[in-house]
Amino acid sequence: MPLPQNPPAGDPPVAGAGLAAPPVRTAAVWAALDPVVGAGPLQVLDVGGGAGVFAVPLAQLGHTVTVVDTSADALATLRRRADLAGVGGSVHGVQGDADQLGAVRGPDGGPDGGYDLVLVHAVLEVVDDPAATLAGIAAVLRPGGRLSVTAANRAGAVLARALGGHPVEARALLGDRDPAPARSRTRPGRRRFAPDELLELVRAAGLQAGEWRGVSVVADLLESTSGADPDALRRLELELAGVSPYRDVATGLHVIATRGAEQS
Ligand SMILES: C[S@@+](CC[C@H](N)C(=O)[O-])C[C@H]1O[C@@H](n2cnc3c(N)ncnc32)[C@H](O)[C@@H]1O
Repeated sequence: MPLPQNPPAGDPPVAGAGLAAPPVRTAAVWAALDPVVGAGPLQVLDVGGGAGVFAVPLAQLGHTVTVVDTSADALATLRRRADLAGVGGSVHGVQGDADQLGAVRGPDGGPDGGYDLVLVHAVLEVVDDPAATLAGIAAVLRPGGRLSVTAANRAGAVLARALGGHPVEARALLGDRDPAPARSRTRPGRRRFAPDELLELVRAAGLQAGEWRGVSVVADLLESTSGADPDALRRLELELAGVSPYRDVATGLHVIATRGAEQS
């Protein structure tokens, strides 16, 4: 597949696919996606894809990407970024809810037989019902299609709060309680997941979950002034992402799952 040239500044291109390296904190996600997105072209659905941090580089790799997001502002940014990257024709923004994917129609009504790849990155934390969202996603995946899901890791959140000097909030998160109940009265709280909880949700949607990986094991813990060499840090992240106990305290969790061929 011809690889895109001149990715726009700030967009994370795909590791190992001939583009500049992605940001260190998502390096492990792109590395896990590499074998999936290296073939194609694919029909991709990015649920809660926001401003296109994943959608635009995927389109640059030759895939067609539909982004479903509730935010009109995010979709406007997505449009600008896609146009700037020269892939405006391959990225379609649709305003809609992750919990009602059945009602969402891309410009062509969605691919016959379902999407090859669905991303739901950093969205299960805020949807009304993660199980319903994943069930809806499973229904729009083609048999054999892949789901890429990332979500906040509770253990990583506990550690981050503690290191940030907020031990009371850290203990609340440890007990899966809201760390800021006063704030949540005006803004819905954000869910965090243990790896087993995320895997169970994926399996309950009828999908076969692969091995989970940690997203940003150390990158988010570093001061911007640390002076760490980005390439060395990226290599470290990639090594730690799949290894306990390091992955257990990462900021996020990443799982790639497959819809079985026999599912209706
Ligand atoms: C933290 S951002 C993640 C953006 C992107 N997936 C990424 O990884 O860069 C969460 C996105 O989910 C969108 N969102 C929140 N609730 C949603 C829902 N119920 N349905 C669809 N999108 C939603 C937000 O508007 C936002 O763009």
